[in-house]
Amino acid sequence: MSKDISQVLYSAEELAQRVEALGKEISQYYKKEHINSLLVVSVLRGSVIFFSDLIRHIDDLDLEFDFITISSYGSSAETCGKADILNDVAEKVAGRHVLIVEDIIDTGITMAAVVERFLAKGVKSLKLCTLLDKPVRRKVQNLKIDFCGFEVPDQFIVGYGLDYAGRYRQLPYIGVLAPSVYKK
Ligand code: IMP
Ligand code: MG
Repeated sequence: MSKDISQVLYSAEELAQRVEALGKEISQYYKKEHINSLLVVSVLRGSVIFFSDLIRHIDDLDLEFDFITISSYGSSAETCGKADILNDVAEKVAGRHVLIVEDIIDTGITMAAVVERFLAKGVKSLKLCTLLDKPVRRKVQNLKIDFCGFEVPDQFIVGYGLDYAGRYRQLPYIGVLAPSVYKK
């Protein structure tokens, strides 16, 4: 384990199990709605590892994927309170069923900006999936999360795609970053 991690929250095995269950839940939901064709959008960069594991458990729908890049924290552990779209999806999304995949929803500012963007483009339906939800820090009300992996406490966490200043994304588990790393 990295010396900068004070506690492991979810091991690689626990993540794999939960992500598989979430993929199946998503498949079942769309089948129940008689929706067979889906565009899944990964919010870069944090969601990319979760995303690539998740979509392989949505194997019974006609699925395409795309990416959107949102400005992030920079090197700080606090959100700057503003989300800018740096790179938009390449696919046309009007009239399509879209599922957004995010790593973590914290204040909700990033997700609210993404939702607003997609609704303005005239999607047929829009659902949100996040691996992690940190509800105590929410600033945006009325953000409905349709599929969620785990609810997490108010701690800064890294691994499995989540970073601090660009680092720790490759860790196969999710852990709490020791405050000594960012409170220097
Ligand atoms: P929000 O706009 O405050 O909801 O922040 C969402 C984004 O901030 C996520 O997509 C992450 O990139 C980042 N973020 C929020 N909390 C954490 C954390 O605990 N660890 C790593 N990144 C985080
Ligand atoms: Mg992110």
